[in-house]
Order: sequence, then structure tokens, then C-alpha cells
Amino acid sequence: MNTAASVVPHIRWMIRRDMPGVTRIERGSFEYAWDEEDFLRCLRQRNCIGMVAEVDDRIVGFMIYELHRQRLHVLNFAVHPGFRRCGIGRQMAAKLIAKLASHRRGKITLAVRERNLPAQRFFRALDFRAVRVLWNYYEDSGEDAFQMEYRPSWEADEAEPWRADRRALLGRLLG
Ligand SMILES: CC(C)(COP(=O)(O)OP(=O)(O)OC[C@H]1O[C@@H](n2cnc3c(N)ncnc32)[C@H](O)[C@@H]1OP(=O)(O)O)[C@@H](O)C(=O)NCCC(=O)NCCS
Repeated sequence: MNTAASVVPHIRWMIRRDMPGVTRIERGSFEYAWDEEDFLRCLRQRNCIGMVAEVDDRIVGFMIYELHRQRLHVLNFAVHPGFRRCGIGRQMAAKLIAKLASHRRGKITLAVRERNLPAQRFFRALDFRAVRVLWNYYEDSGEDAFQMEYRPSWEADEAEPWRADRRALLGRLLG
């Protein structure tokens, strides 16, 4: 069901019963997919949160993130292949961004595979910026990653112009 129309999902905490729907999306989204045990191990950590997006009682997206003192770190984020480009990812990310203010944290961080251009484009469309290259970041393939960050305010750039220069360079590398 690929449609450009915007779909409004219900976004809620992930529960154990969601696992089949979540792992199905995971397998349809990643070459090196997490299995159910990977999700459960992660969610057992005290600072780890899972959320799902639901449309008509069907899981169409999920995100897993960690709460740190200064930031939220996204570990996993995907939308069902049949529901992409409908605004679901954008609404999940908006939910995350809203949590920054309520938790008084300054930024959201995540790593994106160097070859995952759609995800890089997605996060850039949501005002995330590539801030550094993480060399050989993934144990599975040895692939590099880009660390991307979202900050409600990038005013610090004015005080530290070298940051903007470095990002401009990364931006050119990312096309
Ligand atoms: C990346 C992903 C989560 C985006 O979810 P989505 O629900 O399709 O995204 P949205 O519909 O909310 O898109 C919002 C904007 O992001 C950008 N965008 C999203 N997907 C894009 C793509 N494939 N190519 C270019 N831009 C894209 C567009 O600007 C889009 O707005 P538009 O549709 O009005 O042009 C989804 O493609 C996915 O699950 N990919 C596989 C898993 C993955 O790579 N996760 C990220 C790991 S770091």
C-alpha cells in the first residue's frame, strides 16, 4: 500500500505482544536484522524504550531508543515497507522530538549506515544533521556510519563555526 497520502498512526509504548509485527518489519527493512531476542535483551535495559505506530490495529512502524542524561539515542527505527512515504516515520520522529522538551534533554543522536541513503535523506528532511563519520562502526559488515543529530537549536554553531564547516563537508559527501 504505497500512497503519498498522509496516514495518521496511533503511536504507543511497545508491548511483548507486538513482537511478531515488529520483527516482521525489521526483517523487511534491514539486511542485518535484529531477532526477537535482540529486541527483548535491549528492552530489558532500564533506559531503553520501545514504541510502535499502529494503523487499524496493525503495527506499521516502531522505534527503540535509549534515555541518556543529556540525549536520546535511537537504536532502531523502521516503517513497514508497504506504508513508507505516508508520513509515518515523520510522525514517529516528531513524537521523539517532543520528548526532548519534556525530558529537558538537548539532542537526539543516531547512527546511519553509509549505504543507507533513504534513511539519511529521511533524517535530513527532519532537520537532523550529519556530525561525524564513525569508521568501521558495524561489527556485521565493517561498514562505516554517519552519526546524525537533531538539536532543537543549532545556535551553538555561531559560537563554534568549525562545526558548521565540518557539517557542510559531510553534507557535500552525502550529496
Ligand atoms: C527511513 C524510513 C524510516 C522513513 O520512513 P517513512 O515513513 O517512509 O518516512 P516519511 O513518509 O515520514 O518521510 C518524511 C520525509 O523524509 C524524506 N524521505 C523519506 N523516505 C525517503 C526516501 N526513500 N528517499 C528520499 N527521501 C525520503 C522525504 O523528504 C519525506 O517527505 P515526503 O514524502 O513528503 O517527500 C523508512 O524508509 C524505513 O523504515 N527504512 C528502512 C529502515 C531504516 O533504514 N531505518 C533507519 C535506520 S537508521
